[in-house]
Amino acid sequence: MNTVAGSTSIPKHLAIIMDGNGRWAKSRGRERFYGHIKGARVARQTVEECARLKIPFLTLYAFSAENWSRPESEIAFLMRLLLRYILRERKSLHENNIVFRCIGQRHRLSETILKEIETTELMTANNSGMVLTFALSYGGRQEIVEAIRTIATKVQSGLLEPGEIEADLVQRHLQTFPCPDPDLLIRTSGEWRLSNFLPWQMVYTELYFSNLFWPDFNKEALMDALNHFAHRERRFGKVVKNNTPSLHEPTLN
Ligand code: FPP
Repeated sequence: MNTVAGSTSIPKHLAIIMDGNGRWAKSRGRERFYGHIKGARVARQTVEECARLKIPFLTLYAFSAENWSRPESEIAFLMRLLLRYILRERKSLHENNIVFRCIGQRHRLSETILKEIETTELMTANNSGMVLTFALSYGGRQEIVEAIRTIATKVQSGLLEPGEIEADLVQRHLQTFPCPDPDLLIRTSGEWRLSNFLPWQMVYTELYFSNLFWPDFNKEALMDALNHFAHRERRFGKVVKNNTPSLHEPTLN
C-alpha cells in the first residue's frame, strides 16, 4: 500500500480545483496571465508528483464551462497555454505510462485544441499508469443534463424502462465513467465551494481547502493535504465498527 509520511492511505482519485492564479499575480503587481503561466508549471509538477506517489486517478479543473464568460483575451491565453501544455507534455505523459483524457463540452473547444486532445488521448489510451483527466470547458450540471438527455432518448426508443434508471445507471452515463468517484478534493486560494466541479461524483468526497494560491501550491502543500486525508475517518453514512450502538435501544423521553 502507498504511504504518505507514515500513514497508510493515499486517495485512489484526487481532484483539484486550481484556484487563485489571478490573485497570486495581482499580489505581485503583475498581470493575471503571469499567474496562469506559473499555475501551469505547478500543474505540471503536481502531475509528476501524483504519478510518483502512484495515485491512480488525478482530475484537474483546467477550465470551467463558466470560464467562457471571462474576457476574450484571457480565454485565448488560457487556451494557448493548455495547447502548449498538451503539445509539450504528451511525449512525457506517454513515456510515464499516463493515460490522458478530457471531460467537458468538447463542442465549445477550437478545432486545433480538440485535434491535439484527441491525438493525446489516442496515443495514451492503452497505458496502464495514472489516469490524468483534464476537466476542460467542464460543468457538472451540464454533464448531468447531458446524461439525462441520453437516458431519456434510450427510454423513448424503448431501449430502457424508466424503472431501470438507478444511480448506478446515471453514473455510467457521466463522462467520468469508468473513473471512481474522487476520494479527496483539494481547492486552493481560500475559497470554500465546489463551483460546478463533479457535483454528482463528490457526494462522499473528503474536502480540503488550502489558503495558498495555486501558483504557491508546492510539493509540501500537496503532502500536507494528503496527510490530512490519511487521517480522515470515512464512514459513507454508516457507523464505524468500533462505535456500534448497543443492542439496548435508548428510551426516548
Ligand atoms: C484559477 O485562477 C485557474 C483557472 C482559470 C484554471 C486553471 C488553469 C491553470 C492552472 C493554468 C493552465 C493549466 C494547465 C494544466 C496548462 P483564477 O484565474 O480563477 O484566479 P483568481 O480566482 O485569483 O482570479
